[in-house]
Amino acid sequence: MYWWENEFAGVKENRLALGGVDAAELAKAHGTPIYVYGKRRIRARFEELRDLVEGLTPLETRICYAMKANPNPGILRTLRAAGSWIDAVSPGEVRAALAAGFPAGRILFTGTSVSADDLRQAFAIPGLTVNIDAAEALELMREVRDAGFRGRKIRVSVRWNPGIGGGFNPKAVTAGERSTDGTPIKFGVEERKVVDVFLRARKLGFTPVGLHQHLGSGWVREDYPTVRRAVDLMVRKASELRALGFRLEFLDFGGGFGPRYFKSQSLFPVAEYFRYVCGKVGKAGLDVKALAFEPGKYLVGDAGALLLGVNYVKESYGNLFACVDGGTFNTVPRPVIYMQANHEIVNCLEIDAPDKPRITVAGHLCETGDVFGKERLLPLPKKGGLLAVLCAGAYCRSMASNFNLRDIPKEVLV
Ligand code: LLP
Repeated sequence: MYWWENEFAGVKENRLALGGVDAAELAKAHGTPIYVYGKRRIRARFEELRDLVEGLTPLETRICYAMKANPNPGILRTLRAAGSWIDAVSPGEVRAALAAGFPAGRILFTGTSVSADDLRQAFAIPGLTVNIDAAEALELMREVRDAGFRGRKIRVSVRWNPGIGGGFNPKAVTAGERSTDGTPIKFGVEERKVVDVFLRARKLGFTPVGLHQHLGSGWVREDYPTVRRAVDLMVRKASELRALGFRLEFLDFGGGFGPRYFKSQSLFPVAEYFRYVCGKVGKAGLDVKALAFEPGKYLVGDAGALLLGVNYVKESYGNLFACVDGGTFNTVPRPVIYMQANHEIVNCLEIDAPDKPRITVAGHLCETGDVFGKERLLPLPKKGGLLAVLCAGAYCRSMASNFNLRDIPKEVLV
């Protein structure tokens, strides 16, 4: 068994099968490049998390899919049917969630730098919860509400920034004062302003229902101590709010735990983390109704792959390149954006062979950085060969662009 095999990706007779179908057959039926996603794996991941957390607390638990990871309508419907809630970050995502059948009461709209128009669209949807990212947004919220939604009950929560955070890349750390590369962090309400935002929101006639934090994305084992400290801080803040008379419906701990992208990755201890959160909240006697988590990449990351056709294999100055029919920016942009992003690449027609040369998998874009993987040990593909970039279910299609006027590939759900 290869370390990356799961309900979606497997090996049959030394060839890649996705959802039980030979990858070459999928490529033939749909053309390349093509994203392939596996329903069974997505459902299994959801159920695994749900069962884990349900057994740990008497409170209601909400797994809110962070749909920015992949808003594919089939994926949304699969998760809705499994019982998921939604974390949406824009009016467009809210609309996509509604179109996939999620009731507004199961959607949290966590915008950042929201405009009056964003708020108008959000307030127009009864039952939606609007997560407040800034003390300074309250005034705009009041104006928009007074202009068109007077008297309407508007559920709000507050995204606070506990002052610490963690993520696999400086660009994916979403809490703290500054990221690991010094970038000031724009998200959330800072600690000393949180109570005031709750008090003002209530005074302005909004209905505060929750406290929210999201620390970052792509946690590994080493992030666990920081994450635990942030859980302590969140529970302390919720107790403080309780003492001031706020009866919160939910505490939302955000997302951040991901799938295994590469073999040597140290995995974040998800079960231990859930146990810690549930225990901590239970002991604090907070009388909240529900606990929420917002996984994105954990649910869909390793349920997706990108199939790439090989145009030819090129040799230059001793370097070998598999020249493929897709470009990173248009398909799997993560390795280009994040130095630490690493996607396993396999030769679909010959997973293993005695001879594995070092091959750089190069895309068709005019940019030196347009490589899916550098000097990977792979059985040499032939002209007309087929490669797969694994763990391409999250933040690949959703972040792809039309750079060089190359198309973004189609998607199939198997
Ligand atoms: N909740 C909120 C409010 C978020 O901003 C995010 C992701 C999540 C939940 C889900 O995080 P996850 O469980 O997927 O780690 N583009 C990057 C990831 C950035 C995620 C930003 N926020 C990547 O390709 O790795």
